[in-house]
Formats: sequence, structure tokens, C-alpha cells
Amino acid sequence: MKEYVIEGGKRLTGTTYASGSKNASLPILAATILNEGTTKLYRVPKIRDTKITLEILELLGCKIKRNNDKIEINSKDMNQVEIPEEQMRQIRSTVILAGAILGRFKEAIFSYPGGCDIGARPIDLHMNAFRKMGVNVREEAGYIQCKCDQLKGANIHLEFPSVGATENIILAAVKAEGTTKITNAAMEPEIIDLVKILKQMGAKISGEGTNEIEIIGVDQLKDTSYHIMPDRIEAGTLLCFAAGTGGTIQLKEVEPLHMIPILEKLEECGCMVKKEKHEIFLEAPRRLKAIDIKTMPYPGFPTDMQSVFGGMLSVAKGTSVITENIFENRYRYCQELNRMGAKINISGKNAIIKGVRRLSGAKVEATDLRGGASLLMAGLIAKGTTRIKKIEYIARGYENLEEKLKGLGANIKIEEGE
Ligand code: EPZ
Repeated sequence: MKEYVIEGGKRLTGTTYASGSKNASLPILAATILNEGTTKLYRVPKIRDTKITLEILELLGCKIKRNNDKIEINSKDMNQVEIPEEQMRQIRSTVILAGAILGRFKEAIFSYPGGCDIGARPIDLHMNAFRKMGVNVREEAGYIQCKCDQLKGANIHLEFPSVGATENIILAAVKAEGTTKITNAAMEPEIIDLVKILKQMGAKISGEGTNEIEIIGVDQLKDTSYHIMPDRIEAGTLLCFAAGTGGTIQLKEVEPLHMIPILEKLEECGCMVKKEKHEIFLEAPRRLKAIDIKTMPYPGFPTDMQSVFGGMLSVAKGTSVITENIFENRYRYCQELNRMGAKINISGKNAIIKGVRRLSGAKVEATDLRGGASLLMAGLIAKGTTRIKKIEYIARGYENLEEKLKGLGANIKIEEGE
């Protein structure tokens, strides 16, 4: 298995860029099922999650053409409604395909997406919404079969502003009969990106970016082309890599408006942050100050940034407290950080991080995508050599990460592990 080998202790300085958003790409790839024609997408990141989603679309009968960052998807001859279990199990987010398949074929069959490394990840909110739209949902032997004669518009109140459930309802409602209203909808920028391309295809949607979204069903959607938004979590992660190593970074091709809570917290711990239209410049202090963080649904502080901040704050001056309010098991990376000399105690939803002067390189193991990024952060900070196992987790969500880090002066390479 491949491992990252990092010689830490170097300040990261230089210029790099954010790739297209993983969490906008996945629902947008699902949306290409609905127009029964050709969709051209630009800036889809070349990462494991998009690769597997494209594999599934091909298995379902779509024709895919990819050159560099342009992907052309022709879903005209798509003829399957069952998402293959093997791929389903590899990434959770394929449940988003269910809403689009249902929206087109009025049937979708998929295996229960197993829990993952950060929590149980139930899909009850998705299924209850489908039932309200007239779908018969049957679960047996780990498989879920959704079937209906016609999807009907409905009023759906989400108990929790679930990103995936909001996206799935939109995808199922776009060609339903009548109007669907979602209240307590998620407001993440990735949902706005999904709605933008759907409206370009002819969908009738309003309220995206607020907690009330209305979708009026239409009969047909048309072909379009679309540029995926920048990845705000990858961008925040790159900023933290510079901040945690006392460096400076000029980050291009970003959308600062999507990143306000992240930038505020970077300033709070002592960084100088300058925002341009699509660029961010950050200069770190010699040593960061401890801060408190509470993860919340957008526009609050994003849960996906929690672990990288945890790694960065492990050497801050003072004690930081992180409160994780979204997922129930998102602190597994902390035990790995403590092996590098961090002093982190977990108490319920809180991680209490007592800043230390230095971390020491060690052999550690990634536990999930964002937890892996936290270990990378710690390896860049630590004196000595850090080896990170299971880096395929990190490859799920960060495009060209090794090249980008080398471009900022990091001493990092990939080796075959023992
Ligand atoms: C999306 O996951 C993102 N994934 C996650 O990013 C992100 O952390 C999360 O939204 C929150 O922002 C993609 O967009 C592919 P949720 P999703 O439904 O849709 C509970 C990353 O690292 N819940 O908003 O699964 C759930 O258990 C990933 O890029 C239910 O109880 O998140 C969780 O506690 C990780 N029932 C909370 O809601 C449901 O039916 C938030 O989940 C659905 C969710």
C-alpha cells in the first residue's frame, strides 16, 4: 500500500490553486442522468470519488468522454436502474444517484450505503422524503428498492438540514408532477451549484442558498455545459497547511465568499488574510493562537474543516476547544496526532487541544478523508520524518495534492509501504 513520507518543519510558501469541488461534482454528475442527452462539465476534479461515480454512470449505460478537466456525459442510452453494490460500498455519496435515477426511471435499486469512518451516515431523511413524493421504498437483505408510477410534488420538512437529502429531493423533484417545497433545507454553496446547472438545463427551481427551496416539475431538460465551483474545503485545507507551518500562500481560482467562516477562524488564530475576487493571500504568524471552533451547517463553520484545524491547532499557543455538532465519530484522527506528541483529549462532542511547542514525526494511519488531511498537516509541522499509511483515503478528495504541496516547498513523496 502507498504511503506519504514527509520531512516536516519547513515553512510552506508560494502560489497554488484550488481544484473543482468534490461535493458539487458528485450531485452534478448525478444530474446528467436527467437530461437524457449530453452534458459537458469542466473542472471536475480527478479524484477517487469522481472516478467511481463516472464508473457507475458508465455501468448504467452512459457514454463518458474525458480529456483533461473536461468531461462529456451522454446519458441518452442509459438503461439500468440498479447501482452496483461494489461501487456503492466504496463511496457513500452514490446515494445521490438514487434521486436522479428515480427522477428519470421512476425506479432505483441500490445497496444500503454502509456507514463510514465518521459516523453511521443514515439515509432516513432521503427515504422519508421519497415516500412523501409517492415512492414505495422497500428494504430487504441490504438492498433498497424505490419504485413509483409517478413522482409527485410534496411539501417536505427536513428534521435536519441534510446536504445529501436536500440534493436528492431536488434531483427527484425536477421532473416530478407538481411542486415540491423543501423547508429546513441545507444552504451549502454546493447546492447552489447543483441548482445552477439544473436551471441551465431548464429546471424550475427557486430559493437555493436559503432554507426554503421550491421546485416546479418540468417534462424535459436540455443539454448544457457547466464549470464546477472551486472546492472550498480543499482551499481551506491548503490555507491551513501554510498557516500551520508559519508560511505564506497565494491561493488562486477560489471563491472567498464560500469560505467566510474558515477565513474568520484563520484570522482569529493570528493569520493575515487578504481576499481578492477569486484569490486569497494568507500570511501566518510565527506561532498561532489557540481558538474555539463549533461545527455547524452552512453558513456556520464546516465540519469538513474540523480535523485539519485540529492538526494545525495542536501547536498553537494555549488550549483550543473544538465542538463537532454534525457527525458523531469525527475525532478518530486525534489518537494519531497524539502519537506525534499532540495533547488532545476527547470529551463527548468536544476535542480539548492543549497546544504543544512541537510535534515529532511518526508512523501514523489515515482514518478517513479529512482525518488524513489532518495527519498531513501534522507531518508538515513535525520535526523529522512522518509516514502516513492508507493515503487512498486522502486521494478521495484532494486532486494533485502531492504536486501542490511540493510547489509550496514541502518535502513529501509517495513510497510503497512495508
Ligand atoms: C455531505 O455529506 C458532504 N458529502 C460531507 O462531506 C459533509 O461533511 C456533509 O455534507 C455536511 O456538510 C458530500 O457532499 C458528498 P448530511 P452528507 O446529510 O450529505 C445526518 C467530505 O469529507 N443524517 O448533511 O452525508 C448525518 O448522519 C464529506 O467531503 C441523518 O441522520 O451530510 C449527519 O450526522 C464528509 N439522516 C448529519 O445528518 C439522513 O438521512 C449531516 O449529514 C441524512 C443525514
